Amino acid sequence: MSETPVKVAVTGAAGQICYSLLFRIASGSLLGDRPVELRLLEITPALKALEGVVMELEDGAFPNLTNVVVGDDPLKVFEGANLAMLVGAMPRKAGMERGDLLGANGKIFTAQGKALNEVAADDIKVLVTGNPANTNALIAMNNAPDIPNERFTALTRLDHNRAKAQLAKKLGVGVGAVTHMTIWGNHSSTQYPDVFHALVNGSAPQVDEEWIENDFIPTVAKRGAAIINARGASSAASAANATVECMHDWVLGTPEGDWVSMSVPSDGSYGVPEGLISSFPVTTKDGAYEIVQGLELNDFSQAKLDATIAEMADEKQAVTELGLI
Ligand code: NAI
Repeated sequence: MSETPVKVAVTGAAGQICYSLLFRIASGSLLGDRPVELRLLEITPALKALEGVVMELEDGAFPNLTNVVVGDDPLKVFEGANLAMLVGAMPRKAGMERGDLLGANGKIFTAQGKALNEVAADDIKVLVTGNPANTNALIAMNNAPDIPNERFTALTRLDHNRAKAQLAKKLGVGVGAVTHMTIWGNHSSTQYPDVFHALVNGSAPQVDEEWIENDFIPTVAKRGAAIINARGASSAASAANATVECMHDWVLGTPEGDWVSMSVPSDGSYGVPEGLISSFPVTTKDGAYEIVQGLELNDFSQAKLDATIAEMADEKQAVTELGLI
């Protein structure tokens, strides 16, 4: 008997990230040797460009890609979705205030949260990549009352991967030697990449605090801007890779003896107020994640965590005032 395809909904499907992401999903990086149906959402003016992407998906002749559904109506596109990757978002334009950006994205994620609530499969898992990712996830979650809160997450895996890569480079080891990396807080410049719990070949890395504070943290936090400067376009392939890896691990589990960073609704762990979606170290098993407990935070780490909590709370306050949650 043939296996039922997993329905994977992806938004922003004609954009940069999806130009990598969709092909990774179709080729098996997401779920391995399992049939998938792609359900692709775009805004109406981008549907023509999306037609071209769909032609290229066809030309990939991916044996496990059973069907591609395309549209501009989330109520149709999200129908029966088991996994949703919300990548499409309104970019910040020149002269746009933060409130305008939150408001514009608020409309998108309000509508998409409601549509998921109405038509997605009972086992839906939602990963938000589109920025501001944590707050967009919060908006979608608050507009989907029938979907358990723990099914809404935001992407901090790219920051996690960037932090691993920077630490490996500093110590002259392969990135595979680095485990137990953590990103705390918001996917923004206030994020806190924490090397104090990281291990390199199983031992605490020998790096000084001066490097951590003045080199490592700013390099990780501002990596997106550095890529725009160099490439003339924002990071897309690495964001697609992180989106695939995050959902892969959520569905199929983290490697034994390690953890990953995911932005998830806080249960109050580490003093992050409930009601915020924040990055934590998590392990995943059988499709569910758990926040790693019991890590000691030194004064330096606590101050960094407090600063990113303040920013997330501020964004929550702003979208509450806009009536979005
Ligand atoms: P892009 O501008 O190339 O593509 C975005 C696509 O979303 C466009 O095709 C647009 O038409 C579509 N879109 C806009 N509103 C939509 C809606 N309501 N429904 C469906 N589609 C809609 O942008 P790119 O480079 O693909 O990035 C996408 C998002 O991911 C951005 O918000 C970016 O800031 C964010 N991002 C997040 C990262 C993370 O680590 N969390 C890393 C890199 C990017």
